[in-house]
Amino acid sequence: MNNENLPRHIGIIMDGNGRWAAQRGLPRTQGHRAGVEAFERICEYAADIGIPYLTFYAFSTENWARPPEEVAAIMALFRRQLESTKLRQAENEQKRWRIRYIGDLREGGPVPPDILQLLREMEQSSAGMDRTVVNIAVNYGGRQEILGAARRLARLCAQGELGPDALTEQDMEAGLYTAGQPMPDLIIRPSGEQRLSNFLLWQCAYAEFWFSDVLWPDFTPAHLDEALAAYAARNRRFGEI
Ligand code: FPP
Repeated sequence: MNNENLPRHIGIIMDGNGRWAAQRGLPRTQGHRAGVEAFERICEYAADIGIPYLTFYAFSTENWARPPEEVAAIMALFRRQLESTKLRQAENEQKRWRIRYIGDLREGGPVPPDILQLLREMEQSSAGMDRTVVNIAVNYGGRQEILGAARRLARLCAQGELGPDALTEQDMEAGLYTAGQPMPDLIIRPSGEQRLSNFLLWQCAYAEFWFSDVLWPDFTPAHLDEALAAYAARNRRFGEI
């Protein structure tokens, strides 16, 4: 595949961890653990083949409604993953992933403060990395993101810095978590579901979609290649003919 046909930005909805575990008679947490391994594997491969931006949906604003034991187990997994990554500095230098977290990560929100601290440290320690940008969506919701961007514009208008009739799409985009990054070209959702689940709603206006029945923990570079081949064969017209 030539580079021209590679997406610059891929969004991935990591779905199917629970079913993967259930199929093996394991607790759901084991599925999430295997999901973290798939995340590492796919990031590494995508960075290798030269995808400059990746966005992974790890935890949505709606996921808090899961049973408290499962939410606590996922938070514990995030904590462990962040702590262990922090200790592997040599490996991080080699991977050169610039990690960014997108979502409502304000203090006083539902994400435990020690995890917020670890997320900030991870962003800071990887800020100079240049191989690929890896956005991880935590406490993320697309509508909430758009609402946040609209509130920012409302404030700027109220302060007289912008006029309502002169607002542009760029003004909105400046208030999104992905400000400054290209829009996703390709969204991948494994596990048989064919919906967006509040993921990157504004950004997906012209994205291509690729769905697969494979469960996220089973997702391999070969599946990513399949998605990329399908993407390369699409005729993107952006509303033109
Ligand atoms: C989706 O599968 C998984 C989640 C909502 C949980 C969080 C994701 C991970 C632990 C993987 C990546 C983590 C990092 C740190 C990047 P599901 O539970 O909805 O599966 P199901 O649809 O089969 O029940």
